[in-house]
Amino acid sequence: THSAPIVVASNRGPVAYKLREDGSLAAGRGGGGLVSGLSAIGPDAGAVWVCAAMGEGDREAARRAGPRLPASDTAGHRVRMLDIAPDTFAAAYNGVANSVLWFLHHMLWQTPLEPVFDAEFRAQWAAYEAYNTAFADALAEEAAEGASVLVQDYHLTLVPGLLRERRPDLRIGHFSHTPWAPPDYYRLLPDDIAEQVLRGVLGGDRAAFLTRRWAEAFAGCCADVLGAEVVREDGAGGAAVAVRFEGRTTRLGVHGLGADGDFLRERAHREDVEQRMAVLRERVGPGRRAIVRVDRTELSKNIVRGLRAYRRLLEDRPQWRGKVVHIAFAYPSRQDLVVYRHYMAEVARVAREINAAFGTEDWEPVVLHLEDDFPRSLAAYRLADVALVNPIRDGMNLVAKEVPVVSDRGCALVLSREAGAAAELGDDAITVNPYDVEATARALHEALSMDPAERAERTKRLASAATALSPARWFVDQLAALERSGPGGD
Ligand code: G6P
Repeated sequence: THSAPIVVASNRGPVAYKLREDGSLAAGRGGGGLVSGLSAIGPDAGAVWVCAAMGEGDREAARRAGPRLPASDTAGHRVRMLDIAPDTFAAAYNGVANSVLWFLHHMLWQTPLEPVFDAEFRAQWAAYEAYNTAFADALAEEAAEGASVLVQDYHLTLVPGLLRERRPDLRIGHFSHTPWAPPDYYRLLPDDIAEQVLRGVLGGDRAAFLTRRWAEAFAGCCADVLGAEVVREDGAGGAAVAVRFEGRTTRLGVHGLGADGDFLRERAHREDVEQRMAVLRERVGPGRRAIVRVDRTELSKNIVRGLRAYRRLLEDRPQWRGKVVHIAFAYPSRQDLVVYRHYMAEVARVAREINAAFGTEDWEPVVLHLEDDFPRSLAAYRLADVALVNPIRDGMNLVAKEVPVVSDRGCALVLSREAGAAAELGDDAITVNPYDVEATARALHEALSMDPAERAERTKRLASAATALSPARWFVDQLAALERSGPGGD
């Protein structure tokens, strides 16, 4: 220990273990946009990746492995998986990170879904502190003198501050893969917790975001809640923003994350994808258009309003009945949370209603799949005539970037203006207000009606914008920017 020049910290690591009946362990790949980005660090960079054990399989693997997981399970990455007590982990991950901070930054609370900051929440908050402290202790042990530490996401907002107390020599960066809530919404948090989160992130030398919009929201929260000073310096690459608070300076950065074009194009042409394309083509039927969506079943992804918009399309524009199929993949996510389980059930119910109302003997209007299958997602991307990406809010959204890259015949993109990706793809996508079901239905009609030549042209431009910042670039740029910013500020 005390050896790594680069240390990365994230809740979810690059590997997830399943415990088999016979007691043996099966290693699979961890999911989500964050893991895709971080996997770009080559195993040769000398980095150590610290993450949390998320289930029984992970815990067992962490206990058997000692400080490092076997390199054969992690594609060569040096991974330390923290075996945090199950109650502490569940309270921090489900109770605080995914029920409060995720909802906050995606602005998902609306009557009757309101935050509850009761005694149970206070106990969960104590667990979130303990969980962040476990990470800070492990990082302090792993990092070499003057090392760069890259802390990821809303699970770990307290880590930069806790780590700075332990190791003032380190360069510490925090990266948010989510949006950041604007000040008026952010203040829904209890005052002391609102402060503690900001102080935690400001314990680092840098705080970085996927788009300028989220960085500005963070700066606004620091000014509003802490009375911190926001400093802007005009430079060649636009205004550089920093937050000055209690004698320290934290620079704000913006690093967009793009799709991995080379990987996707190669992966999308393998045999398993071709097979699934044949199955899907059969389900869609000859001569019909396909509207495709692929998401984690996540309230922020707005799947139910997407289905309602499709229903509106069939109601208001009968010319599309029998001529289009909506392929919707809604993969299970965070099923420990009641609201997510209910949401999944609602998605299934609304899809069933549409099929019951409009389906005929040889036409199934909605094809819904609820089990995760990556090659099948790629098959749907290739077949899509229209991709529907309509989140309420989203840090970036990689589906919007992946579809144009692998699309076979060009694909029109209906994209929420509240996704980070809209800042980069807005010119060639059809952008919508995600709450406006009528407008989304009109956008679907416009997308289905788009001239094929124009569609192909737009897809080409979308694909090149989508791959402009590869995951490898995203990582390297962040690291370089952190190395330029000295420990303790300027
Ligand atoms: C988002 C978050 C990631 C998270 C992913 C999957 O992209 O920013 O930190 O890993 O969702 O969510 P999960 O809760 O399954 O890790």
